[in-house]
Amino acid sequence: MKQQLIFTNDVGGALDRLVAELRPSSVYVVADSNTARLVVPRLASASEAVAGAKTVEVAAGDTNKNLESLAALWSFFNTSGATRSSLVINVGGGMVTDMGGFAAATFKRGMRFVNVPTTLLSAVDASVGGKTGINFNGCKNEVGVFAESEAAVISTVFFDTLSREEMLSGYAEMLKHGLLEDRRTFAGLLDYHPEADGDRLLDLLRASVGVKERIVSADLHEHGLRKALNLGHTAGHAFESFAMTVRQLPVPHGYAVAWGMVVELVLSKMLLGFPSDLLHSYAAYVRENYGVFDITCRDYPALLSAMSHDKKNDRSDRINFSLLADAGDVRGDSVVDSETIKAAFDIYCDLMGI
Ligand code: GLY
Repeated sequence: MKQQLIFTNDVGGALDRLVAELRPSSVYVVADSNTARLVVPRLASASEAVAGAKTVEVAAGDTNKNLESLAALWSFFNTSGATRSSLVINVGGGMVTDMGGFAAATFKRGMRFVNVPTTLLSAVDASVGGKTGINFNGCKNEVGVFAESEAAVISTVFFDTLSREEMLSGYAEMLKHGLLEDRRTFAGLLDYHPEADGDRLLDLLRASVGVKERIVSADLHEHGLRKALNLGHTAGHAFESFAMTVRQLPVPHGYAVAWGMVVELVLSKMLLGFPSDLLHSYAAYVRENYGVFDITCRDYPALLSAMSHDKKNDRSDRINFSLLADAGDVRGDSVVDSETIKAAFDIYCDLMGI
């Protein structure tokens, strides 16, 4: 992976050092309406590069990760004289790093960019690993490219602007990385609460991003190993889209992943002998911190249908999962039939006390 990962709470200093090293012709900051107000002024007072940069703002929220906002970024770069040697600093959550990265990677056939994630979710996931893009025609991340940032400057200093829900949403991806790593890492994460203590969180974050870094270094373009990062996401996306379209009560992405991982660990136990003690401790942690996504057997057909539309499937009559034989022992491309998935939903309901 060419992307430098810099873990520091002196984000301004790190950005100034990067700009001195990269010597861009000009510096741009891409922010959304929240980070432009809450984060960019803090960064500008700590970094000469940010203070002197041209800032462009897009409306916050994943629904604005679209062609119109992308065109507005290109237009700003075009009319303000950006060149291929300019540098873009993306300041925000996954929406900003995905779209700002895509805008930079495509303008003038590619400007360099740096990510400054401001949410736990983007620090641990979106800002690292080179996936950039926008939503298109109602499909999430439908258009994009793999393009790595020069660096991600990862800190916990901006997390004071986040709600408990946003912290927990990001922590679900850390739990996923713990499961992909080994029992000890996973147990350490179950022993911690993301709001507990900021200093320890930066260390946990470093370890967690390290798991993703190792996977992405081996398989940037997701031909094989990187599919492990989809753990929890097949069932999680089904919960997320069911909540949005059927119940019209959207749930945060990380919560859907946390619940989806319960279903997928049940499948892992049924099909690969994943250890019961880990499944039960994880389900208890999720129930206590994330609550329960309530389903009944009447919802199973809609959930199965949502799963079969997932872009990870190559055929609609079989559903692909990344499952685990144990913590750290991933089996990608596990194809599961619908009767087995329904049985896993039954066990999910039992474990969640539904
Ligand atoms: N968020 C999963 C990945 O980066 O591959």
